[in-house]
Amino acid sequence: MDKPHQAMPDIEVLPAHFPIPSMGFLPVNAFVIKAREPVLVDTGMRIDSEEFMKALESIIDPQDLRWVWLTHDDADHTGSIQKVLEAAPRARLAANSLAVLRMSMAWPVPMHRVYWLNSGDSIRVGDRKLTAVRPPLFDNPTAIGIYDDKSEAFFSVDCFGAIIPSPAQNADDVTEGDLAQGMMSWASADSPWVHMVEPSEFSQALDRIRQIAPKMIFSAHLPPAQGKTEQFLELLARVPTSTPFVAPNQTALVQILAQTRGGN
Ligand SMILES: [Fe+2]
Ligand SMILES: [Fe+2]
Repeated sequence: MDKPHQAMPDIEVLPAHFPIPSMGFLPVNAFVIKAREPVLVDTGMRIDSEEFMKALESIIDPQDLRWVWLTHDDADHTGSIQKVLEAAPRARLAANSLAVLRMSMAWPVPMHRVYWLNSGDSIRVGDRKLTAVRPPLFDNPTAIGIYDDKSEAFFSVDCFGAIIPSPAQNADDVTEGDLAQGMMSWASADSPWVHMVEPSEFSQALDRIRQIAPKMIFSAHLPPAQGKTEQFLELLARVPTSTPFVAPNQTALVQILAQTRGGN
């Protein structure tokens, strides 16, 4: 994991960068919203669990957490969920009901602590309202992002993610070309269904975010991005008709392994 940092006065980032061979790095972020009722958004990768808990403790005493908002039940978001719930006995788990049911197949989710949300539902966390918003692109049916009406930030789940050439703390640190290319290919790879969608239908989903007009985008898979919402929406509008991403196959793996051996 990388060192946690403050992205807004009341929002901290718990960042990691997962290396993707021959492509770059996928940012993997969790966040702490220092609301009057503090909220942890997602819990990182299992492989980082020990570091994740230390990073979290450096930002907030887990005993003070009142909410853990799980954007969906993919492995890069649930890595420390059980440890966090143990360390944060007063926190409730806010998530889509299907995410909770799916996780219940792997571990005993404490149902009395759960709060089920669908897109459009809100929770009040003291000084602000957090509203569940389905992002325009998602790789899991349980995905719910968050619009925070105080910071005017949108926590966009996997949407607006990008594989970037090197780790970065801020989206402004990535060149515009790298950001555009990384975001387009991530969108196609992570949400391949977008190529089956009518561009005009998809643009309505983009318009819903345009109407919310968040000032800040906190994607799980992009460094924090301020004032870039319109730029990102215009980029995503091109994805349905772009060339679909093709994952590397065995030929590529053989090459990667040969390079790795060559490097040793
Ligand atoms: Fe995901
Ligand atoms: Fe993800």
